Amino acid sequence: MKKQENPFKFGTVVEGEYLTDRTNELKVVKSILNSENHLVLISPRRYGKTSLILKVAKETMRPLLFLNLESVTDKKDLALTLLKKLLALYPFEKLKFLLKNFRFAPTISMNALMDSIDISFVMKTNDDIVLDDVFTLMSKISNKDNRLIVVFDEFQQVDEIDKNLSKLLRSIMQMQQNINFIMLGSQESMMRTIFEKKKSPFYHFAELLSLKKIPREDFYTYLYERLSVFSDNYDISDTATKILDFTDCHPYYTQKLAFNIWEIMKDSTPNEDIVQTAISYSNDIHDMDYERLWSSFKNTDKKVLKYLSLNRKSEQNFSTIGIPISTTFSSLKRMAQSGILIKEGHYEIDDPFFAMWIKTRII
Ligand SMILES: Nc1ncnc2c1ncn2[C@@H]1O[C@H](COP(=O)(O)OP(=O)(O)OP(=O)(O)O)[C@@H](O)[C@H]1O
Ligand SMILES: [Mg+2]
Repeated sequence: MKKQENPFKFGTVVEGEYLTDRTNELKVVKSILNSENHLVLISPRRYGKTSLILKVAKETMRPLLFLNLESVTDKKDLALTLLKKLLALYPFEKLKFLLKNFRFAPTISMNALMDSIDISFVMKTNDDIVLDDVFTLMSKISNKDNRLIVVFDEFQQVDEIDKNLSKLLRSIMQMQQNINFIMLGSQESMMRTIFEKKKSPFYHFAELLSLKKIPREDFYTYLYERLSVFSDNYDISDTATKILDFTDCHPYYTQKLAFNIWEIMKDSTPNEDIVQTAISYSNDIHDMDYERLWSSFKNTDKKVLKYLSLNRKSEQNFSTIGIPISTTFSSLKRMAQSGILIKEGHYEIDDPFFAMWIKTRII
């Protein structure tokens, strides 16, 4: 990182110097990857699932196949996408030999000019068999001394792709050797249903790890060290404390706010209330988006959101909202499912900037 480069990063997967340690979680992921077991990693949106997994996978230097199930449309598409990714990971000569075992032979054409590969199957195939063959290929091509890591992101989508897919996948996946499967998901209740309900095909298939916010001490040190270049003009300890008070250690929003503060510190003259300035600045920019978002909620949801924006950490007493408690709970559940709320012990609004916007513009 260059000296004057903003040391905070948000929105995309982060690596190396942009990451706080997450020491314990790294240890768990490493130990799973060093075993024959599989992992399920759950957290709300933007807590750092992908960054964590990619960091460990990179350290192992083993081949990694990463697939977001949100982009998959059906079983055949899943088979084709996996096959394409395998072709990018392993030498074609090696794969060609194994492809001979396929019960439905795929047509593979390479476009050297476009540097792309096109794969298709004849129209009439048995998609279950095709998928089974692709997973078998995956297992055979994987070397036991350099085992393949397969990551399925947004795994809770599995039932959306095809209602029989989870049963099929489970029966296929349990047969594969030399592969560690990692299933990521941001919809906690759906993920728990898939992996913890006795009736679910994936019951106890993998070790379950749930990613929390970043421990306050770690995040404080992280912010303090990176903002210290401005310590001549600013009280860095106070700034770091106020950032974390506002974001409550949410990984993404903390990086976002710290990024903005770094930019202001770099350019302007000392300012007593820099954290507040950065928050207001950001809310001015997002005013239209928040207004649109706000108008999309039902009235009951709006009441619940108003209440939560005012009662972030204090004791929550939902009976004071003024709507039937069962209505409140179905609203909380619905909004948690869509990612507007997170539940870590108590319910809270995921985006602290939106919570502040409600508090200042609506109430
Ligand atoms: N360990 C960490 N330390 C500091 N910031 C982090 C860390 N992990 C994640 N972040 C912040 O959170 C953002 C989102 O990370 P990432 O994309 O890995 O999360 P995710 O859980 O995979 O998100 P999504 O649900 O959108 O797939 C990063 O861009 C970064 O700003
Ligand atoms: Mg991700």
